[in-house]
Amino acid sequence: MQAVPTNREAQPVSSYFTTEREEEQVADDARESRATVGEPYVDSPRMTCRDVSVYYDNKLAINEVSIDVGCNEVLAMIGPSGCGKSTFLRCLNRMNDTVPSCRVEGSIELDGLNIYDKSVDVVPLRARVGMVFQKPNPFPKSIFDNVAYGPRIHGLTDNKADLDEVVEDSLKRAGLWAEVKDRLSQPGTGLSGGQQQRLCIARAIAVGPEVILMDEPCSALDPIATAKVEELIAELRQQFSIVIVTHAMQQASRVSQRTAYFHLGDLIEVGSTERIFTNPRHKLTEDYITGRFG
Ligand SMILES: Nc1ncnc2c1ncn2[C@@H]1O[C@H](COP(=O)(O)OP(=O)(O)OP(=O)(O)O)[C@@H](O)[C@H]1O
Ligand SMILES: [Mg+2]
Repeated sequence: MQAVPTNREAQPVSSYFTTEREEEQVADDARESRATVGEPYVDSPRMTCRDVSVYYDNKLAINEVSIDVGCNEVLAMIGPSGCGKSTFLRCLNRMNDTVPSCRVEGSIELDGLNIYDKSVDVVPLRARVGMVFQKPNPFPKSIFDNVAYGPRIHGLTDNKADLDEVVEDSLKRAGLWAEVKDRLSQPGTGLSGGQQQRLCIARAIAVGPEVILMDEPCSALDPIATAKVEELIAELRQQFSIVIVTHAMQQASRVSQRTAYFHLGDLIEVGSTERIFTNPRHKLTEDYITGRFG
């Protein structure tokens, strides 16, 4: 049986609007509602993302997102599961290149370099924009070799003494040196979960990145290990830009200066973390942070 059309379906589109001005107004409102609310841009950004859309085959996962990553800031990305946070994060160092069905449109620049330019080699790019994953993933190597791996493959040190210094310095900055200095030759996988995550952070730091991407870095950690990683993030900001995806809103408010709220592939709102959590402007942001959605 054929469905009976509703009045709305039966009407020609033009008759929804009584005047041309009203029609224009509705079109403006539609555009407005798609545009990101708040302050997605910063002065002197480290990374600029403009009109970034991401597809898996024909499925749109990120819809024309424009945002900057500032220098020495922690930018938190929050939003309900499946809204595209990890997808967008992975665009920032071309990690999505490893997913054959994934296509990225728009532009992403790091210090003015279009990272999707054909001439860009992803290996040095991923040293400049490092990544720490949800589950700590040390290499099946010694603690020393985990940290020395990057400097070795990128040829960053001239001799063993230099390499020792980089490893020690990275482990110190990751807050792990005191705990591991007497067992550097033991496997990284033998450390506790929280220590392994700090080892992965040391590994990212060792190659002198400008940006560190973190995808729910504490979700597998207990509260004490989480607190250590959060402290570390606050310190690392002095030197790097950090983009962190988190489901823990308390964590976003503790560690970040700016927060971006994603919803079904759209970047809904960006602003100072304090404002987003106390005075969100968009209803969807408000619904999410007050627990009405997600
Ligand atoms: N490799 C993939 N192939 C196909 N679709 C994918 C792939 N990875 C993600 N998607 C889809 O893209 C959308 C965004 O997923 P994404 O993992 O980025 O969300 P998320 O916000 O990180 O979610 P979560 O909070 O659960 O980690 C989802 O609809 C997801 O199913
Ligand atoms: Mg994710």
